[in-house]
Amino acid sequence: MQEVQRIVILDFGAQYTQLIARRVREANVFCEVVPYHTSLEDIRAKRPAGVILSGGPASVLDADAPTVDPGLYALGVPVLGICYGMQLTAHLLGGRVERAAQREYGRVQVEMDTESRLLAGLSPVSQCWMSHTYHVTAAPEGFVSIARSANCGFCAMQDAARGIYCVQFHPEVTHSEEGQRVLRNFVLDICGCRGDWTMSAFVRDAVASIQRTVGGGRVLLGLSGGVDSSVAAALISKAIGERLTCVYVDHGFMRKDETEQVKDVFTNLFPVNLVAVDARDRFLQAVAGVAEPEQKRKIIGAEFVAVFAQEAEKIGAVDFLAQGTIYPDVIESGSVKGSAVIKSHHNVGGLPENLRFKALLEPLRMLFKDEVRKVGEELGMPADMVWRQPFPGPGLAIRIVGDITEEKLGIVRESDAILRAEVGAAGLERSINQYFTVLTGVRSVGVMGDERTYDYTVAIRAVTTDDFMTVDWARLPYDLLARVSERIVNEVGHVNRVVFDITTKPPASVEWE
Ligand code: XMP
Repeated sequence: MQEVQRIVILDFGAQYTQLIARRVREANVFCEVVPYHTSLEDIRAKRPAGVILSGGPASVLDADAPTVDPGLYALGVPVLGICYGMQLTAHLLGGRVERAAQREYGRVQVEMDTESRLLAGLSPVSQCWMSHTYHVTAAPEGFVSIARSANCGFCAMQDAARGIYCVQFHPEVTHSEEGQRVLRNFVLDICGCRGDWTMSAFVRDAVASIQRTVGGGRVLLGLSGGVDSSVAAALISKAIGERLTCVYVDHGFMRKDETEQVKDVFTNLFPVNLVAVDARDRFLQAVAGVAEPEQKRKIIGAEFVAVFAQEAEKIGAVDFLAQGTIYPDVIESGSVKGSAVIKSHHNVGGLPENLRFKALLEPLRMLFKDEVRKVGEELGMPADMVWRQPFPGPGLAIRIVGDITEEKLGIVRESDAILRAEVGAAGLERSINQYFTVLTGVRSVGVMGDERTYDYTVAIRAVTTDDFMTVDWARLPYDLLARVSERIVNEVGHVNRVVFDITTKPPASVEWE
């Protein structure tokens, strides 16, 4: 097996650092984001094929500006500095960096020297995204300018003999029209990466690595039915089969048919030692009469830990606790979070404190969400499991405003299933990030046949977003809304009104509770 080639990205805190990593991986090259202050030995130990210095909010002229050991430039591998990374390179190697007369922000036409290996294949004038206040006004010795704009003589520079390349613009954002070409040129041509890091290669290597790590040991995984824990379970099952025990707690707040699917997939498609706990009555009793949202969450969380602990006690000590930790859980811009943090695997109440295991197993910890989905597809998991939308740990319980009863759960579960079916039939399931129904708790007067009714109002919530920190409401087609409304009032008992939530976040949250 050939060694996986990797690019190391030093993070100076730019909001775009994760995007650089995404783009490098789109060129089928593995890369890793580490904090800028990672030691030279640690970087060398990773045996990188190249190093990228990200952008960042600081100014290299500040006394306490983030910096690197200049030995980095003599590691013997190519270096690409982006924005702050370029200014830092100029500063450390003897060039000059100054505050620009005006902050440059937005799309800028840049003239490219396409005979440079970094810029080969680009148009002679290419649109680039700029966002900087400082710029290089004199290149260090050995460097030449390879790109320029009306405002800036050094939009890119290189010292080809030393393998050091810099760009002031942001090749990682799509507003830089040919930015991906620049990154490909760097990693494939200049660093000489093979571009063979695919998800099928990942699966092959991960299976072998899990087998090596686990040996003849036993692994425990808390399965929530969500994408990350399901893909982790499938991958580990492929590696060690039924030496993987998965505990799935059905708290009764899952969506229609979800529990059946989890049981089916992890019994027939990826056989594991599945412990599916039917705790529906227990949870329903625990939340009976509770209307306050935070209290509901707390009760469900605590109950979850208690049920999980009971099952873990029966299983006894295991060698590994597996988690579906993914890369965004590990890195955040500007820093790399502590490793080996126990993730609250169900996003509800965390894990019991006295779980007995020797080590954590996190086979997806280097992957982004879309890569995790590709791994799922590669393994042959059902598409609706792999493309499942985000679903809160407390589930449907926080989509019923007020207290929870079995009848109300039925209403929200059935109406949600209708919405999902119709969004799917309209082919919109991948363009809307999250969509569901809410039992609002409002009852109002209606007529059905000759009868006066006094029944529930169901709300449709559908949002588009990049990160769920801010969201827009999805512009669902009127015809789709009409079909969903008609079906809900006809097919779901005790609903006589359907409304559409047209609020952004902020001020509203995605969930109603
Ligand atoms: P909000 O309602 O906070 O939701 O705007 C943002 C995203 O987070 C999800 N969400 C949760 N996920 N446990 C989770 O695992 C929770 O308690 C929880 N509450 C909200 C929500 O579905 C949306 O995707």
